[in-house]
Amino acid sequence: MIEKIHHLLKEISEVTAHNREEVEQLRLKYLSKRGLVSVLFDDFRSVPAENKRQVGQQLNELKNRVQEKIDSLKATFETTDEKPPQPSDLTRPVSGVPGTRHPLSIVRNQIIDIFGRIGYSVTVGPEIEDDWHNFSALNFPPEHPARDMQDTFFIARDPEILLRTHTSSVQIRTMEQNQPPIRMIFPGMVFRNEAISARAHCIFHQVEGLYIDKDVSFADLKQTLMYFAKEMFGEKTKIRLRPSYFPFTEPSGEMDVSCNICGGVGCNICKHTGWVEILGCGMVDPSVLENCGIDSKIYTGFAFGMGIERITMLKYQIRDLRLFFENDVRFLKQFTGAL
Ligand code: PHE
Repeated sequence: MIEKIHHLLKEISEVTAHNREEVEQLRLKYLSKRGLVSVLFDDFRSVPAENKRQVGQQLNELKNRVQEKIDSLKATFETTDEKPPQPSDLTRPVSGVPGTRHPLSIVRNQIIDIFGRIGYSVTVGPEIEDDWHNFSALNFPPEHPARDMQDTFFIARDPEILLRTHTSSVQIRTMEQNQPPIRMIFPGMVFRNEAISARAHCIFHQVEGLYIDKDVSFADLKQTLMYFAKEMFGEKTKIRLRPSYFPFTEPSGEMDVSCNICGGVGCNICKHTGWVEILGCGMVDPSVLENCGIDSKIYTGFAFGMGIERITMLKYQIRDLRLFFENDVRFLKQFTGAL
């Protein structure tokens, strides 16, 4: 009996528990009706009278120790479990994305990723621009209609300061600060004073691309854009380049991709032509290079600018551009799990 008591005393001094459940298990093991200590009390009845005093003392001692131990273990978990809820640190960075990303962000990230794989790095420029970076350095003559109040949002009636109408302004900023080789894309928000409809908005998003080096040709531009279209819309996608005009590129073009909403049969997105225009492009005009301090006798290059809304509409078969700006969760929560 004495031996058993000593054994349990040792055991109880060493036990630990990791949570409340384990403490409860210990309580059952030692102190419940059929528990180890209770069983000893039962056995106590058969201890000879002359030993009862000594054994009884030891047994009480054991019971107290067990009780103390269990109480103290219980207390440690009670204090940690029942702390008042801590105010969470609102500045802590979240892990993962709460909710879903906006479809325009998903597509912007995909564009960045696709060009990243062929060596394009990313940079950004300001949304509030001056006339030089948005127009003059890009060869827009003073009387060009794009400078008109009809198209451009000016800041505080100052014709020098405006909301950029395209991301081509970042081409200028980049070339002013870097000598070739330059291989970069510039994502960003742009602003034009347009009536809001299913196909147009006064705020939208572009990604501009710029590649300047020795011996860059139109063939390089075409292959780059073909690579992009196939990565973005799938291997079967066809592209079509039409001659166009921009003051800052020569020659200039616009690129259409085969409409993947109707499969080329004709719908309201492709205006029943089977093709959708997604970007403007061209070889950077030598005078634009010179405006930025780049020697146009040594270097050539191309630029392109695409609308993220248009590409997102095609990719996700969205027929009304206004959905992007309405913040309707029923629309937004459909875009799960992407980039
Ligand atoms: N900035 C032009 C636009 O907004 C697109 C473009 C970019 C065209 C680069 C040629 C080269 O329409």
